[in-house]
Amino acid sequence: MSTPDSNGAVRVWDRFVRVFHWSLVLCVFSNYFIIDDGETLHQWIGYLASGLVVARIVWGFVGSRHARFSDFFPTPARLRQHLRSLLSGQPDYHPGHNPAGALMMLMLIALVLALGITGFMQTLDAFWGEEWLQELHEAFGSILIGLAVLHAAAAIIMSRIEGINLIGAMISGVKTRHRKTARY
Ligand code: HEM
Ligand code: HEM
Repeated sequence: MSTPDSNGAVRVWDRFVRVFHWSLVLCVFSNYFIIDDGETLHQWIGYLASGLVVARIVWGFVGSRHARFSDFFPTPARLRQHLRSLLSGQPDYHPGHNPAGALMMLMLIALVLALGITGFMQTLDAFWGEEWLQELHEAFGSILIGLAVLHAAAAIIMSRIEGINLIGAMISGVKTRHRKTARY
């Protein structure tokens, strides 16, 4: 699956990963910026986002090669190696997620689950009207948006460094070399 064809194109993200990603982006953005009233629609969109993440976690064990956690799980050793090679100006190439991107991916999905849980708790009698919980929920939302901005910026910057259009790959599933020097 990750052997480049004669044009240097390599299929990395299966359809599930791509639909998951852009659906999650839509859910998070609409709940944070548009439908942030905590009413029924907000709750359903939030549960949808959490459901997408649960499905993604399952897919991380049974999905295609680069969708699997075993392919990209950011162990400390992988992270150190990645940062070392970035700092030395000779980036190491990963067909799937690089270790730093993988760490960010895990933080993003954890925050979506944390929003689902704190959102659900607000609907329970036991926590009804609890201000600390509302504030925690809102804080998770703000941290998620902050990290998502960093994540998108990193995707743009890494695309330039590696000479590969990473955002295009999350749409088409295929990573395409733009420079002859780009490796996978
Ligand atoms: C993608 C997931 C979610 C995001 C990004 C998100 C984000 C937000 C934001 C930004 C607010 C406004 C906070 C404020 O201005 O006071 C809010 C409020 C609220 N959310 Fe969520 N939320 C998510 C999921 C959920 C879920 C799954 C539920 C419940 C099932 C939920 C229940 C609520 C409630 C009840 C409020 C109103 C809190 C208040 O009265 O201040 N949210 N959410
Ligand atoms: C709320 C906003 C966002 C969330 C929660 C989010 C979450 C994620 C997650 C969980 C992944 C891992 C995909 C997987 O393996 O299933 C991912 C990958 C990716 N995301 Fe996002 N994302 C967001 C916004 C964006 C935006 C705005 C862009 C583009 C500008 C973007 C570009 C990418 C790219 C290019 C990858 C693949 C990175 C790689 O090649 O390793 N994301 N994102």
